[in-house]
Amino acid sequence: YVIGVDLGTSAVKCLLVSEGGEVVASASRPFDSMRIRSGYSEQDPEQWVQETVHCLQAVMAAAGVEASSVDGISFSGQMHGLVLLDEQQRLLRPAILWNDTRTSAECREIEATVGWEHLLAIAKNPALEGFTLPKLLWVRKHEPHLYDRAAVFLLPKDYVRFRLTGNIHAEFSDAAGTLLLDIPRREWSRELCDALAIDRGICPPLVESHACVGTLLPSIAEATGLTPSTPVFAGGADNACGAIGASVLEEDRTLCSIGTSGVILSPDRRERDVTGKLHYFNHAVPGIDYAMGVTLAAGQSLSWLRKLIAPSQSYDSLLAPIDSISPGAGGLLFTPYLSGERTPHADADIRGSFIGLDVSHSQAHMVRSVVEGITFSLCESLAILRAQGKSVDRIVSIGGGAQSETWLQIQADIFNAEMVSLRHEEGPGMGAAMLAAVGAGWFDRLDECAAVFVKWGRTFDPHPSRVEEYRQLFALYKEVYQQTESLSC
Ligand code: XUL
Repeated sequence: YVIGVDLGTSAVKCLLVSEGGEVVASASRPFDSMRIRSGYSEQDPEQWVQETVHCLQAVMAAAGVEASSVDGISFSGQMHGLVLLDEQQRLLRPAILWNDTRTSAECREIEATVGWEHLLAIAKNPALEGFTLPKLLWVRKHEPHLYDRAAVFLLPKDYVRFRLTGNIHAEFSDAAGTLLLDIPRREWSRELCDALAIDRGICPPLVESHACVGTLLPSIAEATGLTPSTPVFAGGADNACGAIGASVLEEDRTLCSIGTSGVILSPDRRERDVTGKLHYFNHAVPGIDYAMGVTLAAGQSLSWLRKLIAPSQSYDSLLAPIDSISPGAGGLLFTPYLSGERTPHADADIRGSFIGLDVSHSQAHMVRSVVEGITFSLCESLAILRAQGKSVDRIVSIGGGAQSETWLQIQADIFNAEMVSLRHEEGPGMGAAMLAAVGAGWFDRLDECAAVFVKWGRTFDPHPSRVEEYRQLFALYKEVYQQTESLSC
């Protein structure tokens, strides 16, 4: 067996997976977020560790398998979060998460100091509030007494792995989201550190995603029912692991993932000139990068609506009636900018909208327009990819958005592409388990592992007349941003 741990934003999930890629046991534990001010989003890394240990213990107890039959553990994690440790490897403060937007001033400072083009050449991305480097500069400016004591920073899942093994590492796919990695050279950027007066020693040592970084500490082995000799492999960023778990490993595949946030992700083998519109990160597959667009409030827009208008309804019953409503939701248009937007606007201040409300509209119209708005937002990322010359005819869909056949059909019609779902979808934890399977030597390469582990589900073809209807609505949707910009909070 191998274990994949996915450290998400709202919960940690562990999967115990057999050699045939079947999930034998799984466990999940939620954790809290702290929003002490508008725009702030923090979590207690200690809680990540405690809940991960609980989950590991729970899967081992539920599966009832021999501890010695677990050949490896690996990790997937929420990206970009800043965890700061002192010389004694103790936490200096709560983690500042990817969806925290307090760092606009630091982003401008980075771009002014380094220069936009230079930043794009090295880090392949513009300075965005969610990334790690602006958070580091924020701590330096606002909490200098803590920054002065900082010996190393870690990304969220790398902190949990450190606490399980005692060893400090980062791997390329998550390091790419810090804005401190030289993405083409795959090393921490001396130039960026020098320009911003950051001691490069604060960056953790880098390894490949399938690299073995140690074994379990005896105390962790005892608490979880695993053996201390269990190998631990580095793992990857949640989006990279989501792609691996969906067999999106090479240039010919594209992924649509709709969870709290939503992404369109497409692997790349050549080094591209980037424009900064899409993120550009190293994949957790050696030698591959990927371009990615992010909708910040994707599934979150739907959960927001459910909480407001139908808190007691399940997502299934919320979504069921939208199938009988025509494309366009009876003239109702939604933009999902509930907490700003990343792609294509990179605007932390823009806010969302419902446009075209009519007295005859029902709850189902609102739900359909939210689903369509989320999908239009992701279509903006897809449009950039296509404009860069990538042909995207087939997309693997994962996450909450792939749980509803109606939504999968809406994706096919809005994206004008064939959508494929997975038969058993387990999220990024499966990608982490696959990294452990390759690390443990079950397979030489991830594609060989994917051929065994990934089981395809249904396919949804775009319907020509609906594609045309949505093409016209999409043109309208794109105009809403400019028209509502000045409403920003
Ligand atoms: C990607 C991003 C989110 C987080 C969510 O850039 O910020 O998708 O990784 O966990």
